Amino acid sequence: MKKVAVIPGDGIGPEVIAEGLRALAWFRAQRGVELELWQLDLGAERYLRDGTTFPNEVRDEILSSCSAVLLGALGDARVPGFEHARDILFGMRMGFDLYANVRPVRALSDGLVPLRGRGARDVDFVVFRENTEGVYAGIGGQLRRGTPDEIAINEDINTRKGVERIIRAAFAYARRTGQRRVLMSDKSNAMRHAHELWQRVFHEVRVEYPEIEARHLYIDALCMELVRDPSQFQVIVTNNLFGDIVTDLGAALQGGMGVAASVSLNPDHPERVKLFEPVHGSAPSLVGLGQANPVATLLCIALLLQELGFESAASELEVAIRGSIEARETTPDLGGSLSTRAVTDAVLGRLTPA
Ligand code: IPM
Ligand code: MN
Repeated sequence: MKKVAVIPGDGIGPEVIAEGLRALAWFRAQRGVELELWQLDLGAERYLRDGTTFPNEVRDEILSSCSAVLLGALGDARVPGFEHARDILFGMRMGFDLYANVRPVRALSDGLVPLRGRGARDVDFVVFRENTEGVYAGIGGQLRRGTPDEIAINEDINTRKGVERIIRAAFAYARRTGQRRVLMSDKSNAMRHAHELWQRVFHEVRVEYPEIEARHLYIDALCMELVRDPSQFQVIVTNNLFGDIVTDLGAALQGGMGVAASVSLNPDHPERVKLFEPVHGSAPSLVGLGQANPVATLLCIALLLQELGFESAASELEVAIRGSIEARETTPDLGGSLSTRAVTDAVLGRLTPA
């Protein structure tokens, strides 16, 4: 049986993960989707209690026995340095070499699209964010800290292998899913060394995919075009930092952070554990209010079901989520008045019991 490690994490993480698990329980009872769950007590509480962040035994066990990790959110004001979150999150993204952070940006209802004159059909693309290098590699240092002469450096790591494999993954995804357009975004006009590599590799790889229209925009222009006319995009590939930024912009286009899901995976090793995370953070101001939007997590569950081979359950769940949003059965962030739990009830209520 496939095993899923569950890390509710910090802030609203436990609240939204509880809803995701209720959805999984429904599919287990009604559709025979059998998954073994492994609850992990990791996050800020645990770190503050005994200093544990991401133990090696847990790491090894996830890698050797799990098909998926479901992560709620990480971030807690009591850990301002973000140490626990870095160990856990980057420990999986980088430690498991899950180099593709795949973030679908799909509006589920016309009413969620904030752009004048635009609807759901205009917002439907996927971002392939490089997930193992760039400025996230953590190479750098500080000199003369706290003095007027201090220096702070974060190196931007771009390897031939890292750039090539994420660009290739984007093209391969486009071919596999019948998309016609791939756009690569960098800042090669300013970052002449690192991003010239992106340019060169992009032009090399595109030749292998002649049926796919390959286009480039600098990241600043991409941000503008995403707001001006998001319908031009199907697959966007970019580096770690730009992918982080542009997917928050994407989340806004699809209805906000409450509805954005993601999966980190290694396309060269499809059997390797995949990491599913809502794109939103731990939202400390919402904790305990019952107002956290569970949709991002429910969409993660749909992605998880799909990636783990339960395709029809995945599309059933997605259709139900869409129906609920159309019917305005939502939390306050989407203009509704339902609680976190009531939104899940509404979604599950749209599914047909066996
Ligand atoms: C995300 C988050 C993380 C990131 C933070 C929490 C380090 O913003 O998943 O988008 O920058 O990758
Ligand atoms: Mn982010």
